[in-house]
Formats: sequence, C-alpha cells, structure tokens
Amino acid sequence: MIKRLHLFEQIFKLSKMEELSNGSLTSILVCMLCLFLTVNGGYVKYYTGAGVVPGKLNVHLVAHSHDDVGWLKTVDQYFVGSNNSIQGACVENVLDSVVEALLRDPNRKFVFAEMAFFQRWWVEQSPEIQEQVRKLVDGGRLEFVYAFNHTPRAGWQIDPFGHSAVQAYLLGDELGFDSVHFARIDYQDRAKRKGDKSLEVIWRGSKTFGSSSQIFANAFPVHYSPPTGFQFEVFDDFEPLQDNPLLEDYNVEPRVNDFVEAALTQANVTRDNHVMWTMGDDFQYQYAESWFKQMDKFIHYVNKDGRVNALYSTPSLYTNAKNAAKVSWPLKTDDYFPYADGINAYWTGFFTSRPALKRYVRELSGYYLVRESA
Ligand SMILES: *[C@@H]1O[C@H](CO)[C@@H](O)[C@H](O)[C@H]1NC(C)=O
Ligand SMILES: *[C@@H]1O[C@H](CO)[C@@H](O)[C@H](O)[C@H]1NC(C)=O
Repeated sequence: MIKRLHLFEQIFKLSKMEELSNGSLTSILVCMLCLFLTVNGGYVKYYTGAGVVPGKLNVHLVAHSHDDVGWLKTVDQYFVGSNNSIQGACVENVLDSVVEALLRDPNRKFVFAEMAFFQRWWVEQSPEIQEQVRKLVDGGRLEFVYAFNHTPRAGWQIDPFGHSAVQAYLLGDELGFDSVHFARIDYQDRAKRKGDKSLEVIWRGSKTFGSSSQIFANAFPVHYSPPTGFQFEVFDDFEPLQDNPLLEDYNVEPRVNDFVEAALTQANVTRDNHVMWTMGDDFQYQYAESWFKQMDKFIHYVNKDGRVNALYSTPSLYTNAKNAAKVSWPLKTDDYFPYADGINAYWTGFFTSRPALKRYVRELSGYYLVRESA
C-alpha cells in the first residue's frame, strides 16, 4: 500500500528546502489537505456491542484466564506473582487489569472460576472497587462460573483430566446448572465426536432420574486456548490487527479473513450456527487490555465484513443460544474416562497416586448415585 505519511513528509521537506512560488506552495498545501482528508490514523470508535445474529454463524468470544489454584507454585505465590522464575504468573495482575479493562468498554465480558484467588483479591479492594465489581457481576459482564452471591449457571471444568458422569448429575440436578464446559476428553473420542458433530451433548448422569438430571455438555474441539493466531497475551508473538494506515503492516483484510476461516473450520464440528472461542489460557490477562484491544478490533472489523458475526459472550449466553437453536443434541449417559491426550499418554496413573483416598472418592461417588437413584 502507498505510504501516504511518507509522501506527506517528502512534500513537507520539499516545501521547506526549495524556493517555491506562492502558487506551487498553495497547490502543495491543497494536496496535503487532501491527504489529511483521505488518511485517518486517529481515534477509531470500535462497535463491540454485537449480540447474537440469527441466520449467521455467531462466534462467541469467551474471555477467560485459567488460573490453577496451586500447580508449579503455591496458591499464594501465584496470587502475588512471586517466584516468577518458576512460572511467570501473578493472578493479582489478572484481576486488577481485567476489572480496569471491563470498565473501559461496557460490552466487554470475562469469566472467572477460581474463587480462592478471587477471595484473596476481593478482601484487599477498596469499597469503591468492590462496588464496581458487584455491578459488573450483576450486569452479567464478569461471569463467575462458581459463586459470589450470585447463582452461577455454567460449570467451567476446563482442565480436569476426564469427567465422571456423577459430575453431570451433581452439576445438573443438585446445583441446577444448565451447562458444563471442558477441554479434556480422550483424543480418539474427540476425533470421533468432531467427525459426527457430537462434541456437544445432553449428558445424563443418572439413568433413574433421566432428563431431570441432565446438563448440556460442551467439549471443546481443540483445547481451552483460542484458535491458532488469536492468542493475545502481552508478550506473545502474535500478529496484531493493525488498522492504522499510517503505520507499517496494515492488515485488516487478511486478519479478518483469518478470523472467518477459523470460525468456519470450527462451525464444521458443531450442529448449529454458534461456536465458542475460548479466548485465554493459563495465567493470561496479566495485562488484560492486550487481549481486549484485539478483540474489540476483531469484533468491529469482522462484523463490518459481515460473513460471520463476532460477539463478546459468556458460557451462559452461549448456552442460551444453543438452547434456542432448533437442533437435537446426542445423548450421553456415561463417563469421559479414561483420558488420554495422545498416543500412549493415558492419565489413568493420575488416579493411582494416593490410591486409598482416590478409591474412597470413587466408591463414595458410586454409593451417592445409588442412594440418589433409590
Ligand atoms: C520462592 O521465593 C522465596 C522468596 O524469594 C524463596 O525464599 C523461595 O526459595 C522460593 N521458592 C522456590 C521453590 O524457588
Ligand atoms: C468441513 O468438513 C468436511 C468433511 O469432514 C471437510 O471436507 C471440509 O474441509 C471441512 N471444512 C472446513 C472449512 O474445515
């Protein structure tokens, strides 16, 4: 593309260096004015308020940060961001910056699950921030996928290594959730489900209770990260959507094409016209604006393009859309066990450490179901 700014600079230099007649100076000024009018490198108001559009493929952007409550570091080390040589992770930064980013644009949304971190953060906040956060939760913009004086409707079990049918029963019947969302199912099971569009199912945990114990279960097509190329953590090596024509590497059209292509690929493995993009990963959003800035731009330009519809969403909004679709979902009644994430990579050993405790949990789950079904 023509580097208009550079042209502009050249004309400016010329006008200073050379002895110019008044006439030619005027024509240069007029020319510069034209350039000003055609090139817009300034503020752009991004339209980020799209809802679901019937009849189009809707891409639900679900912004999240997966924050293990103790893994390579302790819970407190993760919270305060100490021992970053072990893993660069500070959940306090995530919560601070997400709240700021949500306040910047009323259409942005975020889901958060790890209450152990939220509790540590919450008690340190001023009454003013607490009030703002309450409003974000009440407005459905900060969706807790667990608790906080607000009845959650969606289970966000994105990282457990396999799932027992008892969970479907507990979350659906006992807690009254409408949906559960997770990444980890056996790799061969996933391949098959992608092929016959059965990643999303009605999962019935108890044969006795039948449909009263069921829940909509959404197994992700890849993992809980975004499609390749749409991960926007602050120091990640990604290609930003660059819409300022005065700077290098303007790329709105190719990036919109990338988005549409990734959306159509995913649409191919579901039964209706809604796909969820899990916009996040482990301990991400330490500078939340880096993600939200990109998502704002993608929502704006993708919807201007019009081939698909992109929107800020949450697991609840996504589930509402799925419920509204006139589509029937396959029924599943058993476990997502055992779990292998690749050839010869079975996580069954996961359940052989602390065998006594785990056996105890397994047996009690059985008794529990029997009791509830009696
Ligand atoms: C974590 O950081 C503390 C304080 O710097 C240090 O004393 C401790 O050895 C570190 N722990 C590990 C496991 O590196
Ligand atoms: C959709 O699925 C079909 C059949 O599996 C495949 O041939 C096609 O390439 C897929 N399209 C996209 C966009 O992934």
